[in-house]
Amino acid sequence: MSQETLEFSPVLLKKLRSSQTITILTGAGMSAESGIPTFRGSQDSLWENYRPQDLATPQAFRNNPKLVWEWYAWRRQKVEQAGPNAGHYALVELAQKVPGLTIVTQNVDSLHQLAGSQNVIELHGNIRHYKCFDQSHVIDVLPETDEVPPRCPLCGSYIRPAVVWFGEKLPEANLLAAYDASVAADLFFVIGTASMVEPAASLARIALEHGADVVFVNPDPDAMSGPPEFQLQGGVTTILPALIKAAWPK
Ligand code: OAD
Repeated sequence: MSQETLEFSPVLLKKLRSSQTITILTGAGMSAESGIPTFRGSQDSLWENYRPQDLATPQAFRNNPKLVWEWYAWRRQKVEQAGPNAGHYALVELAQKVPGLTIVTQNVDSLHQLAGSQNVIELHGNIRHYKCFDQSHVIDVLPETDEVPPRCPLCGSYIRPAVVWFGEKLPEANLLAAYDASVAADLFFVIGTASMVEPAASLARIALEHGADVVFVNPDPDAMSGPPEFQLQGGVTTILPALIKAAWPK
């Protein structure tokens, strides 16, 4: 791809048009241009400024539930103020052009779904949802109380965000569905992820081993690998709409 003119490799465009099954792994970079901070990769990144072990582990919640609750409340507020960006909408358009498209996301912000994407597998939960700490009771409506965090009306344990923390298992059905979608892919996109966290980071390799071509979209060249024509350097709002326009000119 040439950066100045946003010209894409004819091989990539042909592959895009002929693929039956496209699987797309997204990470925090997908929502960066919606105003949601990433975890790594810039000075404003969350893990540049906070320690994951203090905020995103079951132990952290046990040690200081109020701190963890309030940090997630701050992040949830950012998510609620954000909306999908042109990259999210480009993926909705892409789904209308290919027979099968699955998005596997590490993001907890629902922005793919809010853009209108149908087939979205959430690997790390959803920051807009809650469950209780001890028994994972689903909490649809937070109880009205001054207590921080509030407590589960069923078992009395603290309520927590329904996200996956470090040291916790990913939801098994979602992980299996993500493996299946990776195995089935003709074309696999890795968009806006540093690929530092397992098991999501291994999905591209699984897709590659099962015959997919793997395309990266990222402003950081160090986050990409493979054939240069499949490394699309730039932000999602620039690259994704241009890519679809190039593959399906009106
Ligand atoms: P990271 O924050 O680790 O990586 C974000 C990636 O997005 C980096 O490679 C950036 O270069 C890239 N990026 C930044 N702006 C972009 C843009 N406009 N367009 C495209 N790419 C852009 O995020 P993840 O890889 O998603 O897990 O992080 C994985 C997991 O680590 C998260 O789900 C979270 C975190 O700790 C848990 O909390 C369990």
